Amino acid sequence: MSQVPVITIDGPSGSGKGTVTALVAAHFGWQVLDSGAIYRVLALAAEQSGIAPTNEAALRTMALQLQVQFVDGKTLLNGADISRAIRNETVGAYASQIAALPGVREGLLQRQRDFRLAPGLVADGRDMGTVVFADAQLKVFLTASAEERARRRYLQLKNAGHSVSLPDLVEEIRARDERDTGREVAPLKPADDAVVLDSTTLTIEQVVERILAEATARGLAG
Ligand code: DC
Repeated sequence: MSQVPVITIDGPSGSGKGTVTALVAAHFGWQVLDSGAIYRVLALAAEQSGIAPTNEAALRTMALQLQVQFVDGKTLLNGADISRAIRNETVGAYASQIAALPGVREGLLQRQRDFRLAPGLVADGRDMGTVVFADAQLKVFLTASAEERARRRYLQLKNAGHSVSLPDLVEEIRARDERDTGREVAPLKPADDAVVLDSTTLTIEQVVERILAEATARGLAG
């Protein structure tokens, strides 16, 4: 294969992309790109610097200069561990807002493509298969009902020690879906050649099995 292989896993918030991406990457021994984390880091950095979520020029500059690292499962901004801080819903909502700005997406594009390193990459996000890695060998679009996604996010946040309300989460997930699918630039939608998987009634293991079967069918080594 001339290009380093990529599997893209796109889908809405709470569809299980993060967990599935980690398991598929571990199976192949490949790198992981959590592109949402990059948008979240930019959101946090902008918030901390008092940059308004509408200030596209300042956000683009910040996107190009962002000092973010992913080390041993931790997310570092200017060397400080912000893994927990980027997971709260306020940062998620801010990230979704700034992600609608073309300048921000452009500013983060090359940074995401730089994750394509041998032996391979599993990239998790909203536009991995449609924009960032349009030539990916396997594209998956993972979805689930809004209620099921809210329930999963609720358990995840609760286990991480955040206090959250389930009805609020359903509302937030719906609002975020609307913003992510309704935006003009790189909206959340399956690539034409994506395998669409609805995980509402599937276990994580079943989802991973389906993806590995699709990967094998495309000659990706396991
Ligand atoms: O996957 P996540 O919830 O961590 O992503 C946070 C926000 O970032 C999400 O609401 C939309 C945006 N995002 C994006 O626009 N494109 C991506 N590839 C990943 C995330």
